[in-house]
Amino acid sequence: MDDRIVSAEKLMEDSENSIRPLTIDEYIGQSEVKENIKVYIEAAKMRGESLDHVLLYGPPGLGKTTLANIIANELGVNIKTASGPSIEKPGDLAAILSTLEPNDVLFIDEIHRMPSYIEEILYPAMEDFALDIMVGGEGNSRSIRINLPPFTLVGATTRAGDLTSPLRDRFGIIAKLQYYTIEELMDIVKRTSRVLNVPIEDDAALELASRSRGTPRIANRFFKRVRDFALVEGNGVIDLEITKKALGRLKVDNKGLDSTDHELLMAIIKKFNGGPVGIESVASAIGEEVTTIEDVYEPYLLQQGFLKRTPRGRVATPLAYEHLKIEYQNDLFN
Ligand SMILES: Nc1ncnc2c1ncn2[C@@H]1O[C@H](COP(=O)(O)OP(=O)(O)OP(=O)(O)O)[C@@H](O)[C@H]1O
Ligand SMILES: [Mg+2]
Repeated sequence: MDDRIVSAEKLMEDSENSIRPLTIDEYIGQSEVKENIKVYIEAAKMRGESLDHVLLYGPPGLGKTTLANIIANELGVNIKTASGPSIEKPGDLAAILSTLEPNDVLFIDEIHRMPSYIEEILYPAMEDFALDIMVGGEGNSRSIRINLPPFTLVGATTRAGDLTSPLRDRFGIIAKLQYYTIEELMDIVKRTSRVLNVPIEDDAALELASRSRGTPRIANRFFKRVRDFALVEGNGVIDLEITKKALGRLKVDNKGLDSTDHELLMAIIKKFNGGPVGIESVASAIGEEVTTIEDVYEPYLLQQGFLKRTPRGRVATPLAYEHLKIEYQNDLFN
């Protein structure tokens, strides 16, 4: 199999592996998704069958990859990992599929970025556990069917809307991951503190959690940076003062907004009179990709009520003005 398919993913995630929960009970929050998946896993095991295909979607860093690994672990099967854009040829997919053992999990990250001709090979694989491949050449090419063992496809995506409906319809289980509450993020931070053996005081954990924009990956990243400050400038214990200082240096405000969030809201307010303004205009004003804004920045700003989506474009809310300490002007003539 082509090494590229797994290597980039591996590299990126190795640094996260030590603090990644391995069982469903260690997986904090997402209670609805978790309780449902527990039942489906249990039922699949009782029937001795593969778990239905699972689609996980939601903003980056909320725990899709973690959950995919937990699903395989709880099922007691192997997991093979690939990412959508790196499956370029039908042979790439065939190579991965042919390594599967009965009931294994095939995890395809960024599944919305899979080329459409690959997607079509996936349909019979998902539905009938079969692979149709073309053999022969000019004039006498024909398709032969290869049977696969039953397996579970776990797909992850930040944009469920970009999935074609035939693909989406082939997932029996569709789970949307939500932003985490501050309490849940505190639990995650405390868990990380235990795993990395770096003590954190409660008020510091609360501060860190409140500024992690609902996202475990960000909470864990902040934890590591705050730990560095605690080590060099404190006594190794993470307290509130060190936390505030470190997060200030990282330019994260008290709501967890970073400099790009600020730029984005500022652009809408200052350059476009608070909106409505099209996403493309906002993107070019701050020099970011539209997709980055849509996938990474916007969901949290919408969820926190700083931004609104209207048919005519994005609008900065009074809350955004207040947060940025700009006087709100509701100009009716604009
Ligand atoms: N529910 C959870 N409980 C504890 N830790 C979690 C949880 N979810 C995520 N994490 C932590 O957050 C980190 C990021 O999670 P993960 O890599 O699974 O996110 P993701 O949704 O796959 O992100 P991306 O969309 O960028 O691939 C993990 O290393 C893990 O330590
Ligand atoms: Mg991931």
